[in-house]
Amino acid sequence: MAKTTPFTLVIFGATGDLTRRKLIPAVWSLYRQNLLPEEFRVIGFARREWTDDVFRDRMKEAVTEFSDCPLDEEEWRGFARCVHYHCSEFDQIEGYRDLRLKLESFEAEPGDACTNWETCCKTELRHSVLFYLATQPGQFSLVIDKLRQAGFHSAHRSGQGWARIIIEKPFGTDLASALKMNREISKGFSENQIYRIDHYLGKETVQNLLVFRFANSLFEPLWNGHFIDHVQITVSETVGVEGRGGYYDQSGAIRDIVQNHVMQLLALVAMEPPVSLKGDDIRDAKVQAIRSLRPIPEDCLNQQIVRAQYTRGVLPDGREAKGYLEEEGIDPKSITETYAALKVQIDNWRWAGVPFYIRTGKYLPVRITEIGIHFKPVPNVLFNSAGQMQPNMLALRIQPNEGIALQFQVKEPGPAMKIEPYKMRFAYAESFDSRSPEAYERLILDAALGDTTLFIRNDEVEAAWRFLDPVLRGCLGQNRDTLAGYPAGSWGPLAADELLERDGHQWELVRMPARK
Ligand code: BG6
Repeated sequence: MAKTTPFTLVIFGATGDLTRRKLIPAVWSLYRQNLLPEEFRVIGFARREWTDDVFRDRMKEAVTEFSDCPLDEEEWRGFARCVHYHCSEFDQIEGYRDLRLKLESFEAEPGDACTNWETCCKTELRHSVLFYLATQPGQFSLVIDKLRQAGFHSAHRSGQGWARIIIEKPFGTDLASALKMNREISKGFSENQIYRIDHYLGKETVQNLLVFRFANSLFEPLWNGHFIDHVQITVSETVGVEGRGGYYDQSGAIRDIVQNHVMQLLALVAMEPPVSLKGDDIRDAKVQAIRSLRPIPEDCLNQQIVRAQYTRGVLPDGREAKGYLEEEGIDPKSITETYAALKVQIDNWRWAGVPFYIRTGKYLPVRITEIGIHFKPVPNVLFNSAGQMQPNMLALRIQPNEGIALQFQVKEPGPAMKIEPYKMRFAYAESFDSRSPEAYERLILDAALGDTTLFIRNDEVEAAWRFLDPVLRGCLGQNRDTLAGYPAGSWGPLAADELLERDGHQWELVRMPARK
């Protein structure tokens, strides 16, 4: 893995949950694996009046709680020396100017580990800055504008370093807000400085989709509507809204999961082979796939989309769950969906006539993200009395128990011609000893290296919204009766099963060997 040149990571919203749960544990893990440059800095930027030491203590607690890399005191002390805190309001330009002074001050206080201060740290720590916007989405444009006013956007023009910005989803709440956000961002920073994170792209198994499709000659010739009957994408979660009611009620399953994570999975499955593995070539291919989604007319919403909300129920671990409308922060009259199932079509030569079925929901019985490629059945002429014939199916398990399973028919041993479906499985946990890096480790490192491949470009975001915006507007116009209910802990509403049954299908998931 390439190492980055010295840089400073500035985290806006550093006292928040994302920093504690994901970002600092990811940076710590990169540090422990020796994947960070000898000289780097992390600056937490937030409003709370913390000192460097308070921030370091809090981050130590976070690493103890959330990192799978054990905390070694000696190493932590080395890491903590690189961690700083900067207290400022997001809307005050002085705070950004002071941030600049803080960066300048690094010149005067070399860290103990620095071996070549004059040539590397002096310039690069100050001039190569990765800004991570872990704030409320409503503050993205404000922070970016202030960074521009403070001159950070042009730091790289001196040729001495770079300035990049990582943005967390949601990228807007509809097409208009996404366009507005992209416009505002582009006033100060060019598109190649913007790294929009969809943490699904940092998952090993999602990256493996590219390898699976284009590094094997076996499947690509079959990867089209001549051989594939339909595709199922399931993103099922066992958690509810988990104290994020305020955010979730404004969002719902389609905005929270389908607009980003599912669109990315769908694009990687459906896209044409990119001309190279360069970031923009892959992103061009993904955008084409998303743009080929057939719009869902308003009068077809009820045939192609099922939305539902969880009601009281019993979770698989025996706990009783409240209904969605009883959760804190939720409007008791809310019609926000916590479950969505969609049937979508891709209008191009490869996928004409192949439905893609998508489902996602909170408080479902099992946590699984899986893509099922269902091949066409064989003509029912030779073995129709030999038992249950299930068409071939390829399951790409994204999480957990990551792996791949291929279902085919085998003859059951014995004198009779009896056929059984059998699954051949590959499990990451059984085949590789090495640990899979957390998505955020990979993504922070790639952004520091300037590799945009695993980040979402502005036109991808806009294409996804162009497809989903009319759907969401149509759903908003519907009354409460079109929103189904499902007990927490169940597999969602019956209407979602009927969505597939109408086409002669049913939802299917494979069992994968559990991690040791
Ligand atoms: C986030 C959503 O983007 O993804 C959450 O906002 C969801 O609601 C989470 O729980 C799921 O991520 P993962 O990695 O657990 O599948």
